[in-house]
Amino acid sequence: MSHESSAHQQDEKNTILKDEENLVLDHNYDGIQELDHPLPNWWLWIFYLTTIFGAFYAGYYLSGYGPTLRDELSVAMQEIEAVKSQKPSGDGETTDASLLALVQNPEKVKHGSEVFTGKCAACHGDKGQGLIGPNLTDDFWIHGAGQLTQIAKVISEGVAEKGMPPWGAVLTPDELQDVTAFIRSIHGSQPAGAKEPQGESHPLEAAGAAASSQKGS
Ligand code: HEC
Repeated sequence: MSHESSAHQQDEKNTILKDEENLVLDHNYDGIQELDHPLPNWWLWIFYLTTIFGAFYAGYYLSGYGPTLRDELSVAMQEIEAVKSQKPSGDGETTDASLLALVQNPEKVKHGSEVFTGKCAACHGDKGQGLIGPNLTDDFWIHGAGQLTQIAKVISEGVAEKGMPPWGAVLTPDELQDVTAFIRSIHGSQPAGAKEPQGESHPLEAAGAAASSQKGS
């Protein structure tokens, strides 16, 4: 069977079929003739349509009428900024004052302490006294001057090169705010086994004053 079919194919190659006769072109090179098969219509249509599309596309973007990549980037960045600025607070802005208000709310602080026990105590000690991570109950801060927004920022962004993980994507905005409030609530609690101070001293009163005027160093 394979013999037969290959023989058949051989035949077909060399023979011009009846219905192809009108396709033979008018030249003949050493006995080699050429057929002019028309391209299938579906192929031609794709060709025409892409050509037309290409013309419009190039006209739209090259004329300067359409947005450039730079324009599209800046629109996308604006959207990202808009989403970012909404994120930290579901309701209203997160400020030192709004975080400080949470410290007065025992429920929030309790919630924060649960987050702390679950996610932070392994490195900062069960009472925030410090372990792998620094003591969070003293006046000394490596990052910022002890302002609550600065603390929330460190928690959210982490300090990758020093082993503090970023929690922004792990904690909900509420959990982030509440754990920040919890850290303020244990300030000055002088827990047993406190780790030696790290960073610079920023006593609470100074931090509060700095928050109302300007950012510290
Ligand atoms: C894997 C260990 C680890 C875990 C878990 C961890 N931290 Fe930290 N944290 C660190 C280290 C290490 C630092 C010190 C970073 C540095 O030296 O810059 C730090 C720094 C901080 C600081 C800044 C302290 C300062 O003096 O400026 C805060 C605030 C903080 N962590 C809060 C948290 C909270 C809240 C959690 C839980 C949601 C948490 N950390 C979980 C290791 C950890």
